[in-house]
Amino acid sequence: MGILLVYHKFNVRVLSLAILVCCCQGAFWETTDDFYAMFQTIPPIPEIRQKLMRYFLDRQDDSRGKRYISYHDIVFVLDSSNSISEADFNLSLTAAQGLVTRFDPDTMFAAVTISTNASVNFNFKSTKAAIESIGKIQYQGGKKNILNALKKTLNVLSLNADSGVRAGSRKRVLLVTNGPDERNLNETEKLQKIIWIAIQLRIRGAEVFVVVVGYKIPRIEELIQIASSTDTHFYRVSDMLSFKQIVDGIPAHIVYQEQNLGK
Ligand SMILES: *[C@@H]1O[C@H](CO)[C@@H](O)[C@H](O)[C@H]1NC(C)=O
Ligand SMILES: *[C@@H]1O[C@H](CO)[C@@H](O)[C@H](O)[C@H]1NC(C)=O
Ligand SMILES: *[C@@H]1O[C@H](CO)[C@@H](O)[C@H](O)[C@H]1NC(C)=O
Repeated sequence: MGILLVYHKFNVRVLSLAILVCCCQGAFWETTDDFYAMFQTIPPIPEIRQKLMRYFLDRQDDSRGKRYISYHDIVFVLDSSNSISEADFNLSLTAAQGLVTRFDPDTMFAAVTISTNASVNFNFKSTKAAIESIGKIQYQGGKKNILNALKKTLNVLSLNADSGVRAGSRKRVLLVTNGPDERNLNETEKLQKIIWIAIQLRIRGAEVFVVVVGYKIPRIEELIQIASSTDTHFYRVSDMLSFKQIVDGIPAHIVYQEQNLGK
């Protein structure tokens, strides 16, 4: 309970501002170590699943009555750098395919992979085509360049792009990674650029969800900065298999329950 209260008190938006003002001078990080340490804690699987259902998938606990939900455009940003094994990357693809069938059927999906240079694997597609295309994404290896991946995501979500993003959709990004951007620690400018792009995404109405996989994540504060909030957009899971299990435990949308799409 105590921890939950603190989560709400320090909203990440306030932190973003503070960090921009401090220009990453170091002093800020030192005084907030305890604050960031609590984001290393991995909640129980059912708790993570509930949160994901409620905030990422927009599932309500109670389905009495019809309510209007606008359609969603989702971008999966998956870590394909050599910090993740090919087997774990494959699990992240299976989890993404699973998530596709947990959304309403009018949802569209795109995918970007993180590597030395990010790739836009495919632009917005509907469910069936998205599941097929996710299945074809190849593991890249290479460095973890989150900045480049976020830049490409911003392009995909720009209304003047050829990506097929829809005006009026709820735009959501799900970034799945096991650690911060790979850079020399003196390249603070790169970190500032990452934070800047994350803010640009939010300004254009996209919500950025971040799933951080693994224990004792170095420089976790840099990943917290990317998420749209600490309380509903930032997720910790112990490993990729648990992430897949979290998704597997969410009932598929009723439309897909008899079709066996994406397992
Ligand atoms: C990952 O998936 C690809 C494509 O299905 C497959 O060729 C590869 O062997 C898999 N790798 C591992 C380590 O499971
Ligand atoms: C990444 O992109 C840069 C700039 O476009 C290019 O110079 C470089 O060769 C690319 N690297 C790889 C590994 O593709
Ligand atoms: C940053 O650090 C790297 C190695 O840690 C070093 O090679 C590089 O010269 C440094 N750059 C600056 C501008 O200090």
